[in-house]
Amino acid sequence: MLNRLEQQAPDALLALIKLFKADDRPDKIDLGVGVYKTADGATPVFAAIKQAEARLVAEQPSKAYLGPEGDMGFVGALIPHVFGNAAPEGGRLDGMQTPGGTGAVRLALALAKKAGVTRVIMGTPSWPNHAQIVSDLELELVGFSHANPDGSANMDALRAALASAGTGDAILLHGCCHNPTGVDYTDAEWDEIAGILAASPALAVIDVAYQGLGDGMEADAYGLRAVMTCVEEVLVAYSCDKNFGLYRDRVGAFYVATGDGDATARAISNAAALARANWSMPPDHGGAAVRVVLEDDGLTASWLEELESMRIRIGQVRAQLGAAGTAGGVDLEPLGRQKGMFAMLPVSKEQVQQLRSDHAVYMAGSGRINVAGLTTDNIDKFVAALAEVTG
Ligand code: LMR
Repeated sequence: MLNRLEQQAPDALLALIKLFKADDRPDKIDLGVGVYKTADGATPVFAAIKQAEARLVAEQPSKAYLGPEGDMGFVGALIPHVFGNAAPEGGRLDGMQTPGGTGAVRLALALAKKAGVTRVIMGTPSWPNHAQIVSDLELELVGFSHANPDGSANMDALRAALASAGTGDAILLHGCCHNPTGVDYTDAEWDEIAGILAASPALAVIDVAYQGLGDGMEADAYGLRAVMTCVEEVLVAYSCDKNFGLYRDRVGAFYVATGDGDATARAISNAAALARANWSMPPDHGGAAVRVVLEDDGLTASWLEELESMRIRIGQVRAQLGAAGTAGGVDLEPLGRQKGMFAMLPVSKEQVQQLRSDHAVYMAGSGRINVAGLTTDNIDKFVAALAEVTG
């Protein structure tokens, strides 16, 4: 029976990790998977996380099961950082821990399906795994163009997509640091989106995977909070993988807000059942480390400071790319205005391949680059390689 299965290509983005590792050219540049790198090209563990882990080793009393909701101390400690004053009160908001942001997106869309959603409206391009999860759940994907050629968000396309939304539709939005385009909605655009959503039958699902890496922890939460203020029912997928540097520990959270505490409790009971059938319980360690950080003012300050230094470095690289103006046939100016780790270069698949084979520059086949992979040592080489390939 199993021999009927067809060979699947490895996930294109994750395959880059191995391809890059196998390349022995010393000046290779990794702009592939979304992992933050320092100006020296390292991805260190946050100092606050190291301390939290040391405390866990010394003091954690047990590793017995917690339950499908995971560490609720972690889930609760994140709420002020994510939702601020917009956190719905009276039991309207609740959440649970998930295996990474992917687990949270999966849970949000599976719950949406259970509640009657059949179509997911989503700006494209998007993180490739969004479409894979939608397809795996046998939901219909309705795409609209996310970005304009000038590097701004395509509000007309979003308005049109929402205008035609009906019951049974969900809309999946990136809360900040859009992956892969780096094109975020402005605050005024978020205000408009929140107003449209308040009057729309579409269920809002917001994926927040890079909070703190765009304009800062508070500023990056503007859109989510604007929506939470105007819209009763919202599903939120949250990732700590990047902003706490916990990638392989898989640390995420799922939140649900409804119009009243009873409906939220019922939604969470369904999410818990879905989690139980999927992964039973989330891995504990990373979430516990985040909880320890967030329960300690000193560790929280250290975490925020380190996160801010990462954000500033990403901004500097973006500014440097923007100032480079053009590289061959590529206009780099919009990159200086965009947010977060990613940007899309208008390069063909052949040019991506040529950058890899001739210049040891690795990026996603779509032309997405992880801006954080550029350092003081390699940015000039990258711009020159891009100019050569696209010139
Ligand atoms: C990325 O887009 O590179 C990250 O979100 C990692 C992943 O899981 O795809």
